[in-house]
Amino acid sequence: MTLQVRVLGSAAGGGVPQWNSLGEACRLARAGDPRSPPRTQTGLAVSVDGHSWWLLDASPDLRQQLADAPALHPQRPPRHTPIRGVVLTGGDVDKVAGLLCLREGEPLSLLATRAVLDLLDATPIFEVLDRDRVERRTLPLDERTPLGDPSTAPSVTAFAVPGKVPRWREDPRDPLGGADPGHAVGLLVEGGGARVAYVPGCAAIEDGWASRLDGASAIFVDGTLWKDDEMRELGVSAKTGRRMGHVSISGADGALARLRGVDAGRKVLIHLNNTNPALIAGTPERDQITAVGWEVAFDGMEMTL
Ligand code: MLT
Ligand code: MN
Repeated sequence: MTLQVRVLGSAAGGGVPQWNSLGEACRLARAGDPRSPPRTQTGLAVSVDGHSWWLLDASPDLRQQLADAPALHPQRPPRHTPIRGVVLTGGDVDKVAGLLCLREGEPLSLLATRAVLDLLDATPIFEVLDRDRVERRTLPLDERTPLGDPSTAPSVTAFAVPGKVPRWREDPRDPLGGADPGHAVGLLVEGGGARVAYVPGCAAIEDGWASRLDGASAIFVDGTLWKDDEMRELGVSAKTGRRMGHVSISGADGALARLRGVDAGRKVLIHLNNTNPALIAGTPERDQITAVGWEVAFDGMEMTL
């Protein structure tokens, strides 16, 4: 048995090209330049047996992502899906809007922390996922949760990372949303003799949770921005990465430096924002990433671990 992983999408909210961006990565992607391929919004699909799949996050691009992934197509008429469920790492639009693409009545499990399920429960449009068919399961923190029979399904362990409430629930007086630890989580997926870590959004890398990545077959880590003030510098937003709940790739507190000591089979950056120069092959920023043994995720990237 192995653990199969497919990167459904590798970009942050907005994707590449983002509809309103004429930034370099978006411009190149629109022009069909192979240095910056188009990217949909972040999510993974994982499977132990190759027949039953679980989605990690459900991006607004899910419909296209499923169309592009033969293993996730229906296998028999009239209707069927190999997808057994969805596990969420937060409540951001780019993590949950794709749930609305799964409203055609297949039985699914939807797992998320209590904090994220509370948001979904309070947002009536998600009731389009009939609760008789799509059970909502609370994902406890720090507890290994089997997704099904271990011969056909992996387990997941959610762990809190520094983050914030989704932008659509921000209170202007307290935009980071206090300290509720359930709003941003990383996932350890274990099955088929392999372990994969998926942390697409975290405001800081702390030893407490980062030590869990040690020994993983592959890790997928927040690569939203190259540097904290990148969006300000480009004049597209006043927000820093930290304010958005995202660590940067570079710098002394960045992902590359802080995870240098982590021993993992593959180290992959994911959820790259369209402002990030590392999106573009051949940039000095991309070269710095590959020089220290990291990779940049791309749509359709597959691993058998
Ligand atoms: C994020 O990753 O910070 C969010 O997806 C931003 C957003 O909701 O637009
Ligand atoms: Mn996001």
